Amino acid sequence: MPADPQTRPAGLDPRRLAAFQARESRRFAKARPRTRALLDRGARAWLAGVPMHWMRDWPSPFPLVVSQAEKARLTDADGFGIDDFCLGDTGSMFGHSPAPVARAIRRQARRGLTYMLPSEAALRAGLLLQAMFGPLVWQLATTATDANRNALRVARAVTGRRKVLVFNGAYHGTLQDTMVALQDGQTVARQGLVGQVFDIAAEAVCIEFNDLAALEAALAGGEVAAVLTEPVLTNSCMVLPEPGFHDTLRALTRAYGTLLILDETHTLSSGLGGYARGAGLEPDLYVVGKCVAGGLATAVWGMTGAVAERFAAYDAARPSGHSGMGTTLSGNPLQFAALEATLAEVMTEAAYDHMERGAARLAAGLGAAIARQALPWHVVRVGARVEFICAPGPLKNGTEAAAAHQPQVEAALHLGLLNRGCLIAPFHNMMLVSPLTKKRQIDRLIAAFDEILTELTR
Ligand SMILES: Cc1ncc(COP(=O)(O)O)c(C=O)c1O
Repeated sequence: MPADPQTRPAGLDPRRLAAFQARESRRFAKARPRTRALLDRGARAWLAGVPMHWMRDWPSPFPLVVSQAEKARLTDADGFGIDDFCLGDTGSMFGHSPAPVARAIRRQARRGLTYMLPSEAALRAGLLLQAMFGPLVWQLATTATDANRNALRVARAVTGRRKVLVFNGAYHGTLQDTMVALQDGQTVARQGLVGQVFDIAAEAVCIEFNDLAALEAALAGGEVAAVLTEPVLTNSCMVLPEPGFHDTLRALTRAYGTLLILDETHTLSSGLGGYARGAGLEPDLYVVGKCVAGGLATAVWGMTGAVAERFAAYDAARPSGHSGMGTTLSGNPLQFAALEATLAEVMTEAAYDHMERGAARLAAGLGAAIARQALPWHVVRVGARVEFICAPGPLKNGTEAAAAHQPQVEAALHLGLLNRGCLIAPFHNMMLVSPLTKKRQIDRLIAAFDEILTELTR
């Protein structure tokens, strides 16, 4: 079926799509009287009705209210059980409340929630970080945004350079230094930033992922302190590195004295020890957030011995005063306990094997459903992370990834899946198979996807 994006978004009939969306919206709302009543009572105390603005980004007429999350399953306030595949953008990549983490939190909760000193678990967790990710020295933060912010500060401090290079379409949290885009060959501040009053683009360079010529041109001026990137772009539609990209990225950053910060907050799902360990990448600084402590708000950032030495010299010479890094609740004993439990008992080879096998099953099932309807779509998988993309692929960079999005189609599909008991991430079509996800949940998702595609193309 030819895809004319003007008349047939993603190869679908727009009238059929609109009718499907309307039907599914009614179905969602009708089935959830209790959720609606709860929101009617309690939502008005929150700005725009939700405690975090992205809770409005779901395609449903109103958000779900969650009563319980267990393993890879949610129960909502109307009692519906929902298979949760929206685990890859959250801290629950290893499933909800993994038992060893819940135990460690319970134990620590009896011994104090927060104080400004290390615990014994902190000392063990540091060694586990080194065993998992390599011989870096580490610091703790609460969010990946903060971990990236701190890593970038260190990179700027030790290189004495101002600029950060990020790839178009990347997301590294709300760290404003990275909130830039590439537009007509220029680095510009991203649209929509609230209350932004100074020029972020002055201290950043934005180029396309996989564009090694642009990378060399950007680094050659000697102004870039650090390249901050995910090994795979995961925050628009997934974009994979082309063969040789990472080798050249590393060689060029070394040649021009730029540090390489890898943000593995999402790609930790690629395999044990993250994408970097699997692919033998050698970052100067390394960030993992979200799920690294099994869902308890924690992020870690590490640096090589060489960077640590340069930082120690910088630190010794700087005037005394605030470093600009750190928040009060970062480095608390609850984090240490959860981090240790996750590294020692949750991030295991067996867990990753299960994720890998499940994700391969999911990718194959979705791909077959797409092929059955001859839609011009594709499926991409990196480890436990699977995404269907409503456009042909593979995608090469952020511009192609942005163009591949089909908001209307995606909203209808996501809502249809939710009504069939499967939750996927709202911002893109990404699904994650956790160590606690069951084969039957994967098969239910494939069946629901197949049913919806059949309905939309019949
Ligand atoms: C790659 C990456 N880095 C950093 C972040 C920021 O994480 P947080 O919102 O926990 O600060 C995200 C969030 O989506 C991310 O995808």
